[in-house]
This record gives sequence, C-alpha cells and structure tokens, in this order.
Amino acid sequence: MDESDHRTSTPEQARELPPGARHYRAYVGNPASYDTTSVAQFTLMTALGLREGHTLLDIGCGSLCGGRLFIPYLLADRYFGIEPEVWLVEDGITHEVGRDLQRMKRPVFRHVSDFSAAAFGVPFDFVLAQSILTHVSRTQLERCLEQVSQSLAPEGLFAASFYDDGETMYEGDAWVYPKFASYSVGYDHYWMVFAREGQAERVSWLGAAAGHPRMVRMLELTRQLNDANREHGMTRRRLEDAELELAALRQDKPEL
Ligand SMILES: C[S@@+](CC[C@H](N)C(=O)[O-])C[C@H]1O[C@@H](n2cnc3c(N)ncnc32)[C@H](O)[C@@H]1O
Repeated sequence: MDESDHRTSTPEQARELPPGARHYRAYVGNPASYDTTSVAQFTLMTALGLREGHTLLDIGCGSLCGGRLFIPYLLADRYFGIEPEVWLVEDGITHEVGRDLQRMKRPVFRHVSDFSAAAFGVPFDFVLAQSILTHVSRTQLERCLEQVSQSLAPEGLFAASFYDDGETMYEGDAWVYPKFASYSVGYDHYWMVFAREGQAERVSWLGAAAGHPRMVRMLELTRQLNDANREHGMTRRRLEDAELELAALRQDKPEL
C-alpha cells in the first residue's frame, strides 16, 4: 500500500497499523498506545512541577501526542516543539489540537533534525524528549544534551526516555526507527531527569542528586515510573504468552 494512504484513516482504524506507518498516530509509535502515551507525558511533566506559566520544549514533538494536552494547558507562547516532519505537526494540529487553539496559544515549531534548541532563544523551564533518545546515535545524543544544557533555564528540568536492551550500547551513526538504540543503565525502558544545578552540568537521578530535596523527589518519581514501566512490560509479555497458549489450545480443541 502507498505510504500516504493511511493519513485519512480515523484514530480507530489507525489502531491496527504497525508503528512507523504513515498515519499521525502510527508514525510516532504504537497507535493503540497514543492515548496513554499522551497521559504519561502530561502526568510526568506536571508531577515534575510543570505549571501553566512555564515554558516547555518538546523535542521530537511528532504529531503532538503530548502537545495535544500541553498546548491547551499552558498559557499562550509557552509551548515549543522541534520536529523534522512537517506533515506530522500539521496532522496533529488538524486532528488533535485544532486551528482555533493554535491561534489562541501560538505554539512555536522548528522543523529541524539538528536538535537546535538554543535557536529558539528561550530559556526553557522544562524540556521533554519522549521516545527520542531511544532512537538516536551517540553523536545525536551528545548534541541533544549539549543543546538542552544551553537552553535550559537555571532551575530547568529535562526529562528524557531511554532504552536499554541489557547488553549493547548503540554504536551506529544514524537515527534508528522503529527499532531502538540501547544506552545502558540496567533498565528496559527508563526515564532520566537532568538539571543544570549540581556538580556537573548534567545531573541525573543516578548521579549527583543525593542531598538536594528537589532532586531526591525527582529520583523517587522517576524510579517509580521506571518500575511501573518495567512491570507494565512484563505484564504485557505474560499476556502475550497466555494468548499464544490459548491460540495453541484452540487449534487442538476447536470447541474452545
Ligand atoms: C517515536 S516518535 C515520538 C514522537 C513524540 N515525542 C511522541 O511522544 O509521540 C519520534 C519522533 O522524533 C522525530 N525525529 C526524528 N529524527 C529527529 C531528530 N533528529 N530530532 C528531533 N526529532 C526527530 C520523528 O519524526 C518522530 O516524530
């Protein structure tokens, strides 16, 4: 089927598409999870302290899976997105945000793939990279962290999701998708929160966080989120195994 054929599918029809298919909900991940992925991003950022007057940069904002909640919530001129694929943002606005809200809240987008966050010229209170650093090369990862550290407000926070296959570090030099780039700290899918303050420019919940109340709170939150993510993954795999077993039984006993 032609790649562009899916763009007119409804969200319900799109649920069956494979991740990466050319529909605004499928291109950015599992279309059946678009709903919960929106909620997870919004919940994480508000739990980390995002409030309506803050500025937020959404790196790789895609079709506004997070933006469809952040844009109405934040005051005007507070939401910024980086996304190389223009059509994704356009479809996100058309199908999820609406032109009225776009006019009212004036989200700002840069359609680039060089992570040039500093080019907005805005000190960001919060930066989010949901399912972005799970696909980047090491050079892109470094570039992204360097750009974020330049544009993060002094008290700003950067939340990013990562992937760890438990064995390898991704050595390729290109964006990899829908497969994952593994950066290892011992979790399956995990979150890291970075802040400017501390001994190093980049402070994660693994590192120099100890002793700083705000960082300790983040540590607890991200650890809980990582554990919940892991548990969710294990439950899903158990469910898949059970479904396979049931299918095998049905083949043996068609009356089941
Ligand atoms: C897995 S999707 C996640 C999208 C969104 N964050 C979400 O939660 O739905 C990855 C997104 O990153 C975008 N992307 C690809 N290369 C990029 C780059 N170099 N910089 C920023 N975004 C990029 C893709 O176009 C896609 O929209």
